[in-house]
Amino acid sequence: MNKPVILTGIRSNEEPTLANYLGAFVPIVQMQKQYAGEYQINMFVPDLHSFTTPIDHQNLYQNTLNNLKYFIAAGLDLDNPDTFVYRQSHISAHSELTWILDCFTYVGEMGRMTQFKEKNGESSESVTMGLFNYPVLMAADILLYNATYVPVGEDQFQHLEITRDIATRFNNKFGEIFTVPLSTKEQTEFMKRDKGLRIRSLTDPTKKMSKSSDDDKSKILLVDAPDEAAKKIMSATTDSVGVVNFDWDAQPGITSLLQVLALLTDRSQEEVNAEWVGTTNYGDFKKAVADAVASFLEDFQARLRSIDDEALHEKLSVSESAMGEIANATLLRAQKAVGLRPRD
Ligand code: TYM
Repeated sequence: MNKPVILTGIRSNEEPTLANYLGAFVPIVQMQKQYAGEYQINMFVPDLHSFTTPIDHQNLYQNTLNNLKYFIAAGLDLDNPDTFVYRQSHISAHSELTWILDCFTYVGEMGRMTQFKEKNGESSESVTMGLFNYPVLMAADILLYNATYVPVGEDQFQHLEITRDIATRFNNKFGEIFTVPLSTKEQTEFMKRDKGLRIRSLTDPTKKMSKSSDDDKSKILLVDAPDEAAKKIMSATTDSVGVVNFDWDAQPGITSLLQVLALLTDRSQEEVNAEWVGTTNYGDFKKAVADAVASFLEDFQARLRSIDDEALHEKLSVSESAMGEIANATLLRAQKAVGLRPRD
């Protein structure tokens, strides 16, 4: 099994949003279709990452399974023998490697992570060690499987870069133990994008759409009723310019909607812009986006209802066993390097 590895994950802390769908589900499904046979695809749910901020633990187990179903509803083909789906906590090497990497990661580096700084700024009393240490666990997720390609949204770029730093530092000290994933620039090229994807909040388009936001109107959930989702789009914050333009700085709300429309209707940004840029009726434009969102959700939710739970469980069991072996082999290399196991 020496194919290049594409790997990504989605936490099961909250219901995923349209931004998660466009930022992570769609790219991996497209890659599976495009590169079938040439690459190994690892799609996992980082369930240990899912309570770095408080959640309702009653729902965690089921939410983790639901996330996997969302991937299938998004088009991931379980029959593909090069595709593996698994849960992070079911492969204990993730936690074990994290500890080793922790001892080669500096507190100063972690303190500079934007996501940590933002949450720490909100309420430093309740910020946990888990949140602080989150990027190191993410580095373990990636390095255990020798992943080269890690399709993620722009908000995860900093974590990907720190993964490269940790891996390079470890390799410099101990020899070629880890595969260093590609830089975010190279990842973006691989995803055939000109920059990282950052779908905006519907109520404050200067911010990203976030599944952990308390403001229900700021996000479209994949389980939202299609007509409710359409209403959220119709009431999305835009601007008072009065002309549709693709301009992230001056009109981030309108621009984000143009982007969502292109991505959901599988058309190029140029094509969608040619249709709408210069028009002056925001209501008509929003209606087109609202219709696209509602029709996407209808199709997606119908696919979700038809998923065969048994097939998912079978795939999980095969994948967790196969990936456990690969993860343990990498872990052993790291254990030997640091002297926890005898060197050959
Ligand atoms: P998470 O669960 O917050 O988000 C899952 C994926 O959705 C992307 N995303 C977005 N993309 C575009 N616009 C947005 N507004 C937006 N919001 C979220 C994220 O970039 C991500 O791709 N730490 C990760 C999970 C993780 C992981 C990994 C990912 C853990 N280990 C290893 C890849 C490889 C996270 O919290 O994603």
